[in-house]
Amino acid sequence: MESFIEEMKRYLGFGPEDVALLRQLGPRMEKYLPELAERFYSQIPHHPNAQRVFTGGEAQIARLKQTLQHWARGLFTGTYDEAYAEDRFQIGYRHVLVGLEQKYVISAMGIVRTFLSECLLLEFPASDERLRYSRSLSKVLDLDLNLMCESYMHATMQGLRALNLQLERANQDLAEASRTKDEFLAHISHELRTPLNSILGFTKLILDGLCQTPEEERELLRDVFASAQHLLSLVNDILDIGRIEAGRMSLHLEEIHPRALFDSTLPLVAIQAVEKGLTLRDETKQMALPLIRADEVRLRQVLLNLLTNAVKYTPAGHVALRARLEEPSGMLRIEVEDTGIGIPPELREVVFHKYIQLSGGQSRRSGGTGLGLAISRRLVELMGGRIGIEDGPEGRGTCVWLTVPLAGTAAAQAEYSDREPHRRASIGE
Ligand code: HEM
Repeated sequence: MESFIEEMKRYLGFGPEDVALLRQLGPRMEKYLPELAERFYSQIPHHPNAQRVFTGGEAQIARLKQTLQHWARGLFTGTYDEAYAEDRFQIGYRHVLVGLEQKYVISAMGIVRTFLSECLLLEFPASDERLRYSRSLSKVLDLDLNLMCESYMHATMQGLRALNLQLERANQDLAEASRTKDEFLAHISHELRTPLNSILGFTKLILDGLCQTPEEERELLRDVFASAQHLLSLVNDILDIGRIEAGRMSLHLEEIHPRALFDSTLPLVAIQAVEKGLTLRDETKQMALPLIRADEVRLRQVLLNLLTNAVKYTPAGHVALRARLEEPSGMLRIEVEDTGIGIPPELREVVFHKYIQLSGGQSRRSGGTGLGLAISRRLVELMGGRIGIEDGPEGRGTCVWLTVPLAGTAAAQAEYSDREPHRRASIGE
């Protein structure tokens, strides 16, 4: 295939005769080159892009004046082959890299063209002779300009290719997300049907009068109640994640005392812990805890989720609640530590993603939506904190930690303004 420079030369009618004329012209033009450089650099700093691209001050301009003369010499002594094309392409690319728009290179070439025409006028008073040189000069300037501009095209293509790749990846991610969501929907429909079937089945038994004793009836009603509660928690999770996805999660931030929060949350998992023979330790008991700024209901929801998970996935040992001031964030760090089955390091980030469950088997056994940690992360972030997972005691189990801003600190105020400006209005509704 014909190379770019050969194609341009053919198009411009640039042949051996032009090469010969330009080579003759070279020595005659040499004396004008310093002035060309002066003229060039007295004009191009006025280009709109100049302030941004000339960052090296006078020293840079002085150096560039030399470089420009070198470039101009090349016009007259060039071999006009692939190496020449590459050199001009690289000069053009240098301008792409400094962020100069192509239109300024084109107009700057006009400065060169005008100046060199003036030189020809002085050198060749006879118009027919001047015309011959002028034509060849014009061709080589066109050639150079095209070669320099080719680098802009190349950069655009590269940019588009990179963008394409990004889009392809985004597309794959979307397809993956959609697949995960489909799987989630299939799973959650099953999860919803289970307690609903229990409720329907048990109430029908009662309504059909199939219970022998009032005690038996109460037993069934207790099951109906537990199933309804379970169903409600599933529905709540789905509503929460829907609100979060739509950016409409409302928080009511206020000063709260962590003691009250801990005292009202721990008992909610105490029975499950005792039933499994686990020790539930509140290691914050003796501590003087600072006031925090959070949404009490939502923070309790997060803490309860962490404690429930800890109890659920710990067959033996203990679940402990800890708190301390974290440096350097100056926030309260709350930790739920367990001696359970643990989460491998490579999954410690994944578990916070929406619709991703630890493993199909595990989440199915746990009978939840698998959304708890994703919801928790968003809630904690909306309150201005962070949440993460580390190794549990002696490398066993897990330690899930979260941070909450202290009341009255800048961190407590800053969250919504810098993280989710467009959602600000919905916070604290
Ligand atoms: C016909 C048009 C132009 C020619 C022939 C030309 C020529 C050159 C050459 C030969 C170099 C050195 C390249 C290298 O280091 O490899 C260069 C660099 C540069 N040119 Fe141009 N230039 C032109 C237009 C412009 C314009 C319009 C601007 C700004 C308004 C500009 C700003 C620069 C800058 C900022 C650099 C890089 C400076 C550095 O390396 O310190 N050039 N130019």
